Amino acid sequence: MSKPQERATDSSVDKIPMSQTTVIRDLYEFYTGFEAAVHRRHRLYGKIWSWRPVLKRSYMLLGAEANQFVLVQNPKLFSAKKAWEEFIGVLFRGGLLNRDGPDHRKFRRLLTPAFRQEALDSYLELAEPIMNQSIASWPRECPDIYGRVKELTLQIALRVFFGITLEKELKTYNQLITEVVAGSIAVVKTPIIGVTYHKALRAREQLIRLLQPVVKQRRQTPTKDMIGQLCQVIDEEGHTLSDDEIIDQMIFVMMAAHDTTASTLASTFYELAKNPQYQKLLETHSVELDAKKTIIQDLPEQLDLHQLVIKETLRLHTPLKVILRVSNEGFQFGGYEFPANQPINVCPAFCHYMPEYWTDPYRFDPARFGPERAEHKKSPYAFIPFGGGLHLCLGQFFAEKFLTVILHKVILRHRWQIPAIETRKFQQVPINVPKGVLPVVFEPRLG
Ligand code: HEM
Repeated sequence: MSKPQERATDSSVDKIPMSQTTVIRDLYEFYTGFEAAVHRRHRLYGKIWSWRPVLKRSYMLLGAEANQFVLVQNPKLFSAKKAWEEFIGVLFRGGLLNRDGPDHRKFRRLLTPAFRQEALDSYLELAEPIMNQSIASWPRECPDIYGRVKELTLQIALRVFFGITLEKELKTYNQLITEVVAGSIAVVKTPIIGVTYHKALRAREQLIRLLQPVVKQRRQTPTKDMIGQLCQVIDEEGHTLSDDEIIDQMIFVMMAAHDTTASTLASTFYELAKNPQYQKLLETHSVELDAKKTIIQDLPEQLDLHQLVIKETLRLHTPLKVILRVSNEGFQFGGYEFPANQPINVCPAFCHYMPEYWTDPYRFDPARFGPERAEHKKSPYAFIPFGGGLHLCLGQFFAEKFLTVILHKVILRHRWQIPAIETRKFQQVPINVPKGVLPVVFEPRLG
């Protein structure tokens, strides 16, 4: 069968191959084995096809050219706001992914200073005592590493974003944020008392009430945490952020940052337990740097091997497997004509395994990102764990720095194994996380 994208003239939407499975089957495969479902349909239909993974028809465009076309080249054709609204429009109101065009540009510009190098350096400094204390206290047997790293990343986020350190406050925020995130992925989005979505709406209101006095206080006394930075921000046209806008942005950033970094850390533990030779290599490198008493702000750049390990983990276990858009207008791509107002998906998880770009794609091989091989440079849009174009993850450098430093600090203290690792599986959507629990057995690193 000729692959659809090689045909140049089929222009009717009816010609786009459609998954022949039932709606229920699409839904089931989407939630239980997303990557396998995508690869199977790729074998059957090629790089362009449609299915109904969440009941509605959506079009999948696979490959680096599709990523470039949808995310980068045609920002006016594709709306992030229309795509994300359904999931996060209310609970994460006003967040950057809920904005398009000039409105998005304005808010992105206002948020950008809080993600610059200088700000990131001060966040690392704020977070260091929490990292040291938390990692040192991990018990030998950890029943679930995902729970453990979520706790760590939450503590860091609350300190760095809101300046919160008190145990009692941490617990309250943890509870509220968990409830809001649960509401955003709940299937039933009706505010009926007692259901997840209703609890999420109430949790959001409570979060807002907690954050209002924090913003007021930061306006009077500037601080280095992110909420403090947003209180001071002013762009070249004189725009600033109101109290409500700051709170909306912070709640969104918290959601965007927390699960994604915790997911990557859990996957890193998994890959390094499967490939213990890399634990040894990282250890040698970390011990050398530690002996030089390198300050935390200088660590990320010097931890080059750790960076490669994080990149390779993000390739194999990309937290967001699929990126959602809705077409604003009809458009042509790959020889087909697509309708307006339709869900259009591109798929980092698929590109990250394409043999065109990656040698032995299923192998954990951090050196593929090193200067000698630089496989990720074969195409600028084949490696996209952080998306691309106007909505490229604003927290990319934040995430890369923090993940690298946390890995360094863990490696300095612990070696680890995962019992029965060959039986461990990951749930892939809405975010890549271990299925069930992922227990880790630590062994203190001596010397
Ligand atoms: C490994 C960790 C992370 C991954 C894999 C990741 C991935 C992504 C992806 C794929 C997008 C684009 C979604 C789209 O285009 O629809 C995105 C957007 C975003 N991320 Fe991240 N993210 C991570 C960590 C973070 C962190 C730590 C922060 C904040 C501190 C953050 C803040 C944001 C924001 C604000 C956006 C929206 C950007 C915009 O719409 O202009 N992310 N992220």
